Amino acid sequence: MVDVFHVFGCFCWLFYGFYFHVFFGGMIIQVIGLGVVGKAQAFLLSSLGHKVYGYDIAKVKAERYFDVVQSPVKDVDVTFICVPEKVAEETVAGLVDAGVGGLIVIKSTVPPGTTVSLMSKFGVHLCHNPEFLREKVAFDDVLKPSRVVIGQCCARHGSVLLEIYRSLQAPIYVTDPTTSEMVKLASNTLRAVNITFWNIIHGLATELLVDTRDVADMADPVKVLGEWEGGGWGVKMFGRPYDGKCLPKDMNMLAETLRSNGLDSSVIDSMQKFNEALKLNNGKASP
Ligand SMILES: NC(=O)c1ccc[n+]([C@@H]2O[C@H](COP(=O)([O-])OP(=O)(O)OC[C@H]3O[C@@H](n4cnc5c(N)ncnc54)[C@H](O)[C@@H]3O)[C@@H](O)[C@H]2O)c1
Repeated sequence: MVDVFHVFGCFCWLFYGFYFHVFFGGMIIQVIGLGVVGKAQAFLLSSLGHKVYGYDIAKVKAERYFDVVQSPVKDVDVTFICVPEKVAEETVAGLVDAGVGGLIVIKSTVPPGTTVSLMSKFGVHLCHNPEFLREKVAFDDVLKPSRVVIGQCCARHGSVLLEIYRSLQAPIYVTDPTTSEMVKLASNTLRAVNITFWNIIHGLATELLVDTRDVADMADPVKVLGEWEGGGWGVKMFGRPYDGKCLPKDMNMLAETLRSNGLDSSVIDSMQKFNEALKLNNGKASP
């Protein structure tokens, strides 16, 4: 006797084809690039009940929550690319050449327009899904993200990502890939702008023997900088330049993207220069 679930299952196979078990069970997912972002993403996906494979060009230690493979797996539902942006294109090319199935998602921070141009270059569907974790608390942040942004190529593929992230307690924004890429750059630049702004004020406050915290508390009651740092309002940051793997690099990416679109990058360039001067002069930028 044919039961109703069997009929429903066959209907779903016909309708969703390859993606049947995406919506009705754990997925098979691979992560390419097992650095800070890739390992945290693999940990998240495994915590959400998916089977996870990880591939890295370098030798990496096996972890409990994913299987390290020696080359990308072909038969997967989703592949997340978490490599440095310089090699994002060659990574997509490699996956296409190898005939890797399912949805390919770029998590790397890439110049706006990259995902759309790679889609047309390689004739594949790609989504962009930026990462907002803080490096020092990467594993905590992936489980409790500040937000999820899905830059979908189309609703069908976007819904696969929605299905992955829907159980997280976080706002989920669905948009197009270029907007998604810009959100990541704008988010890091906004953070750098806040830090730089308060470093400028701090320089003057120090000269005038004024407490920067008093100024900040009264000037910005919403305490934006404290929110970014996830800690005490400003105390750690006043007089300290922004640094790390991402902010300076992403500011350069934004400046280059502005110039390549015929736009003025001088404000971003000045912030970078001011920030470098702070680094060299131990927190004091002189002209
Ligand atoms: N580190 C962060 O806090 C953070 C946060 C958000 C977004 N991002 C972005 O995510 C991307 C990855 O950053 P990350 O910090 O994880 O970098 P990472 O340097 O820590 O890791 C990148 C990994 O990719 C591997 N790799 C390089 N080329 C490869 C290839 N061709 N095939 C397979 N693996 C390859 C490297 O061996 C390395 O293990 C970048 O675009 C970065 O801007 C980083």
